[in-house]
Amino acid sequence: MSDRYLTFVNSPWGHWFAKTVGLAQPLRLQRQQSGLANPVIVAGAGRLAAEVQRIFRATDTVTAQPATIKAPSTVKVQGAVFDASEIVDLKQLDELYEFFHTNARRLAPHARVVVLGTAPEHCSDLSQTIAQRALEGLVRSLAKELRRAITVQLIYVAPGAENVLESSLRFFLSQRSAYVSGQVVRLEKPVDEVPDIDWGLPLKGRRALVTGASRGIGLSIAQVLARDGAHVVCVDVPQALESLQQAARQVGGTALALDITAPDAVAQVQAHIREHGAFDVVVHNAGITRDKTIAKMSEAAWRSVLAVNLEAPLQLSTALLQGQGVNPGGRIVCVSSISGIAGNLGQSNYATSKAGVIGLVQGLAPLAAVQQVTVNAVAPGFIETQMTAKIPLMIREAGRRMNSLSQGGQPVDVAETIAWLAHPASGAVNGQVVRVCGQSLLGA
Ligand SMILES: NC(=O)c1ccc[n+]([C@@H]2O[C@H](COP(=O)([O-])OP(=O)(O)OC[C@H]3O[C@@H](n4cnc5c(N)ncnc54)[C@H](O)[C@@H]3O)[C@@H](O)[C@H]2O)c1
Repeated sequence: MSDRYLTFVNSPWGHWFAKTVGLAQPLRLQRQQSGLANPVIVAGAGRLAAEVQRIFRATDTVTAQPATIKAPSTVKVQGAVFDASEIVDLKQLDELYEFFHTNARRLAPHARVVVLGTAPEHCSDLSQTIAQRALEGLVRSLAKELRRAITVQLIYVAPGAENVLESSLRFFLSQRSAYVSGQVVRLEKPVDEVPDIDWGLPLKGRRALVTGASRGIGLSIAQVLARDGAHVVCVDVPQALESLQQAARQVGGTALALDITAPDAVAQVQAHIREHGAFDVVVHNAGITRDKTIAKMSEAAWRSVLAVNLEAPLQLSTALLQGQGVNPGGRIVCVSSISGIAGNLGQSNYATSKAGVIGLVQGLAPLAAVQQVTVNAVAPGFIETQMTAKIPLMIREAGRRMNSLSQGGQPVDVAETIAWLAHPASGAVNGQVVRVCGQSLLGA
């Protein structure tokens, strides 16, 4: 569904009008390029500096010198990385002030900013714990105030995980993360060995299962995983057979018509595995809403939402892990929602199911790690699909604007985030929930 306001303010007349009367002027997000922001200013002097430089050399990224208060610069840059991993006390936080104070205006529209830190749980004393925790407030505030479609993230890298930064840095410095902002991601020792990576086709030779793949976000996930080289098995209800087959044809994959809540759903997936082999990526995307306030909600509406959104992913994940249905180095990615974080009026069933998905991810991740498999979730905010097209106009408009990027996301924004979590080099990200919501105010 088209966002008429976004189209209007990005037209010459609309831009003039919005500026004249003081209306918000969100920029249409850029999503076309796969490469890293270039050039990038690199600052800070932590234990990640050498790895960051190596990644920039490998990706032909030009690094620019940061401006200082004494030597200001007006040359624009597409990105900034501040390595704050060795900031150990409050005084050193001033270095971040000076850097962002003098460089904020150098960031071009759509720029990407990443701050690297050491998670408080890995800090050795009180002063360092406080300083590192303080980075969260800085990053979330910058994500709100830099505007012009600029995104800002904090990546906490555990000691010993320095060499597994690349897939995350590539993602957060590219246009693929256009609708992800104000996020805090933790990289721990990876659950698996990092294999040799073909960065152009990272999923080549791998098999992926995507539920709810015939339309919306699921179709986009199937397309992006196929672009990355995976053979995608597309699952959707038998009633959607025609669009499911079309989706599978489009991505060069296989259609598996299946209601994931059917009593024999797990058995059908296991039979497929016996014939074609185990999966490397499993994406639990299928989901439904049956909105009503709880006093008016039927038991069927409550039960069906929990069955599709939570019980089916739980049963399938545990059965696949128990039966070696996910290969070592595999990735399970669930689709939660910011409703599962913040709760939502009229969505007690949906929010319960999506909060349960977060519990599923957090509970299963350490168990799956033993099999060298990660389990993570994305939590989309307002994404333009048939699901959100059903929302009444005024609520839909509020959903689109109540975030730092002042617009809804596209299915591809969720799909790209899942592709990063599904990446063979992302074994350091486990048990996490990454919001794809433009830093929505809901549950912030
Ligand atoms: N659109 C948003 O703004 C948004 C926000 C947060 C989370 N999400 C989540 O993203 C996921 C995809 O949402 P969407 O907007 O693309 O929805 P959608 O309704 O467009 O697509 C969902 C797909 O899941 C399939 N499906 C439903 N029940 C199924 C079952 N029992 N077995 C197999 N397939 C089944 C449907 O047939 C459909 O193809 C859902 O989990 C949803 O809760 C969406």
